[in-house]
Amino acid sequence: MSAFAVDPTVPRASATDIAVALQDPGFGRYFVDHMAQATWSAADGWHDKALLATGPLSLHPAVSGLHYGQQIFEGLKAYRHADDSVWMFRPEKNAARFAHSAARMQMPALPTEDFIESVTKVVQLNLDWVPQAEGEQSLYLRPFMFASEIQIGVKASDYYTYICLGMPVMPFYPQPLTLWVSPTYSRSMAGGTGDAKCGGNYGASMIAEAEAHRNGCTQVLWLDSATRSWVEEGGTMNFLVITESGELVTPDLNGRILAGITRDSLLKLADSHGLRPVERPLAFAELCEGITSGRITEALACGTAAVVSPVVGIKSPEIDLTVGDGTPGAKTLELRAHLTGIQFGTEPDSHDWMRRVG
Ligand SMILES: Cc1ncc(COP(=O)(O)O)c(C=O)c1O
Repeated sequence: MSAFAVDPTVPRASATDIAVALQDPGFGRYFVDHMAQATWSAADGWHDKALLATGPLSLHPAVSGLHYGQQIFEGLKAYRHADDSVWMFRPEKNAARFAHSAARMQMPALPTEDFIESVTKVVQLNLDWVPQAEGEQSLYLRPFMFASEIQIGVKASDYYTYICLGMPVMPFYPQPLTLWVSPTYSRSMAGGTGDAKCGGNYGASMIAEAEAHRNGCTQVLWLDSATRSWVEEGGTMNFLVITESGELVTPDLNGRILAGITRDSLLKLADSHGLRPVERPLAFAELCEGITSGRITEALACGTAAVVSPVVGIKSPEIDLTVGDGTPGAKTLELRAHLTGIQFGTEPDSHDWMRRVG
C-alpha cells in the first residue's frame, strides 16, 4: 500500500508567524502548513495520498457531501513533553471510531494504517507548530471525510475525500460548566447516528446550544429522545457523576451516544482514585434527586477538546440545580490532573496510551 507522499513545495510559516499564533492559538484560529489528503473511488479504492499545503479546496457545488451530509470526522491531540518530544494520545481508538462512523454512514473505511500515517505525518512535518505544554496547549488534529461525487440524488457516493488538518489549540471549555436540559430538542434516537461522529449530529444540535446560551448555560445535557428520562451526554462531551459511595457513573454505550476516548480513559483511571467505574443507564430523575440530596457529590464532562470539565450546575425550564457547593469537585480535578499528566508526560503512562511521533 502506497504511503502519503510529501509535496516538497509546501510553503512554511516563519518562526515569527508561528510564535504569534502560539501566543493565543484559540481553537481553530490557525492551521499548520501541511494537511493530509486522500481520495477514494469505487473503481480505484484509496489513492492520491499526499501531504499538501493547507488551503482552499476546489469543489463542484454538486458534490453530494454538501447536499446529503455524508460526512464524518475525528478529533485527537498531540502533546509536547518537557524534553521536547511529541506524543499522540490513543490514536488507534480514533482510527477505529472513524471506521465505525464510516460504516454507519455507508462510507468506505480508511485503513487504520492510513489514518495513523496521515495524522502522524501532519504532526511530524509541523513539529514547530506543536505548542509548549504551558496552559495545556496542544496540536489538535481533525481528520474528516466527505462524499465528493458530483451527484444530485440521494445515494451513497462513488467518490470520497479524506483530509486531516492540524491546528494549535487551548482547552475548549476552560471554565466550569452549567449544562442545559432542553425541553424540546433531541440529539439522537435508537437506530440513529448518535454513536457516529458525523457532522449532521452537530448541525442538528446547534439550535439547542443557542437555547442553552440564552439560558445562561455553556452547553447542552442531552436526554434520550424517546422518553426524556435518561441522561445521555453533553454536546461535545460525555457526562459522568461521582457518588458519595465512591462510584464514577456514566451512561452505558447504548448506541445513541458517542464512545468517547476520554470517557474510556477516565473509567480506566477511576480505580487509582478510589472510584469504582460504573457504566449503566442514568435516570434524569436520579441525577436531580442525587444532586439535591447530596448523594451525587460531583458532575463532570469530558472530551478531547474539553479535556475534563467540572459541571457545577444543571438547568432546565423546571430546575436550577447547583452541584455540590458550586465549585469544581476534588475528584474531578484529581482525574483531570492525572489524565493531563499522562498526556503531557508528567505522570507515568501505565496504560500504554501515548505514541511518540516526534
Ligand atoms: C457528542 C460527543 N460526545 C463525546 C465526545 C468525547 O469524545 P472524545 O473523548 O473521544 O473526544 C465528543 C467529542 O469528540 C462528542 O462530540
